[in-house]
Amino acid sequence: MQPKTRQLAKGAAVGLLAIILISLVVVVWVAYSGAYNVAATQDHQPIVRWTLETTMKNSVSDRAGAVQTPVLNDAMVAGGAVRYQAMCEHCHGGPGVEKSEWAQGMLPQPPHLPDVVSEWKSNEVFWLAKHGVRMSGMPAFGPTHSDDELWEITAFVMRLPGMTTSEYARFDTGDSAGQGH
Ligand code: HEC
Repeated sequence: MQPKTRQLAKGAAVGLLAIILISLVVVVWVAYSGAYNVAATQDHQPIVRWTLETTMKNSVSDRAGAVQTPVLNDAMVAGGAVRYQAMCEHCHGGPGVEKSEWAQGMLPQPPHLPDVVSEWKSNEVFWLAKHGVRMSGMPAFGPTHSDDELWEITAFVMRLPGMTTSEYARFDTGDSAGQGH
């Protein structure tokens, strides 16, 4: 290496080290100073929110890509309805049903699933229900539910976008009255 090139390389290494050190100091300062507001009444800075949302979407679709979707039939939809109304409706609502009052105070807001499900594939909904989303309030149901149960919920969730208020309410009886029709 020429002496000049060597000097340039040394300068770049020192610069890089300084940037890493400064970043570390900033991270430690933010963690210890209490300067960052974690209140659920105030959203992250737009850049932080964008980073979290984009990371979440790509993380889910990347991991869900390996999950094989079974055939989702009407019997599964009916089974999933009962579970959805017991475990998901509080946060995500349903056709004609708003989320619970307490869920309105969450940040990020759990989206009204009938409006957003079409943005997701079945295996991604299954993955989300199974693994949840860390630090967002979206729980993981995998530790407490079998894959079969989670596919039933997925089958039901995938039907939400076209479902009318009365169709949704019919599932609510918990008996066989609303199943399959
Ligand atoms: C305690 C509240 C809560 C419960 C209960 C809950 N979720 Fe969520 N869910 C969330 C939150 C909050 C998000 C948004 C996560 C984010 O944006 O990072 C979310 C996101 C999702 C998404 C992605 C939607 C999108 O576009 O962001 C799906 C799909 C989903 N949940 C499915 C379910 C299913 C299925 C159930 C029931 C088995 C369920 N959730 C139960 C809070 C909840």
